[in-house]
Amino acid sequence: MSSLTSKYIEIQNVEQTFKTKKGPFCALKNVNLTVAKGEFVALIGHSGCGKSTLLNLIAGLTRPTEGSLICANREIAGPGPERSVVFQNHSLLPWLTCFENVYLAVERVFSSSENKAQLKARTDAVLAMVGLTAAAQKRPGEISGGMKQRVGIARALSMEPKVLLLDEPFGALDALTRAKLQDELLAIVDKTHSTVVMVTHDVDEAVLLSDRIVMMTNGPQATIGEVLDIQLARPRNRVALAESTQYLAYRKAVIDFLYTRQAHVEKLTA
Ligand SMILES: Nc1ncnc2c1ncn2[C@@H]1O[C@H](COP(=O)(O)OP(=O)(O)O)[C@@H](O)[C@H]1O
Ligand SMILES: [Mg+2]
Repeated sequence: MSSLTSKYIEIQNVEQTFKTKKGPFCALKNVNLTVAKGEFVALIGHSGCGKSTLLNLIAGLTRPTEGSLICANREIAGPGPERSVVFQNHSLLPWLTCFENVYLAVERVFSSSENKAQLKARTDAVLAMVGLTAAAQKRPGEISGGMKQRVGIARALSMEPKVLLLDEPFGALDALTRAKLQDELLAIVDKTHSTVVMVTHDVDEAVLLSDRIVMMTNGPQATIGEVLDIQLARPRNRVALAESTQYLAYRKAVIDFLYTRQAHVEKLTA
């Protein structure tokens, strides 16, 4: 891997301070991280530590108060289709079908270069990739939570983003649905070689999916505490990994960080 591609996303000395009624609140401080092209990075930390704040900065939805963020050698100056985001709560348009929700994104990115038949084919292909062909004509109100998250993932993938940003995309799902979607995401990423930054607070999810786990300290002034390399061969199989001593050692390292070194202290003031 060349040094150019090994620094695909660069986060340099990033600080994020919010103005609040009680004065400035420094959520993130001295955050430094590089993500390589094709790498899958999980951001893990306790609730409220600043994971979404960091992901929103990479998405370009917010700008840092200090430091810089770069993607593919360009400053991240705002949101763009090359960095698509999937949130915990799908954010689908309820009056549109699954097909139309995805088609809207496809149209926005590719309509200047492709005709309607090509845009439709793209939409069909990505819906098939997440197993939603049969539900394409249903509206969000007519499908399960897991299926809605699949539409959100399909929509994000349909833009052929350079970077896929996931903010606890499976957080609101039951354990079995979550496991199924994790397996699907693993298969999709193996196929697309996407660069992924995924926020999670689920230790098993982080170990199963990622190449590196970035562990964040508690806020205020949260930063990156430790980074763990996950050297488990791919493709990964959750059943086989459940008995792997290497897997269990990674899992323990993350649990030690979260529950021993960064034991969560509930803040008295919000
Ligand atoms: N727009 C905002 N204004 C003020 N404080 C905020 C804002 N966004 C987030 N925060 C605060 O920053 C901290 C980190 O929030 P967040 O990134 O949402 O945490 P996480 O995603 O890890 O649960 C929290 O203390 C939260 O209250
Ligand atoms: Mg969050």
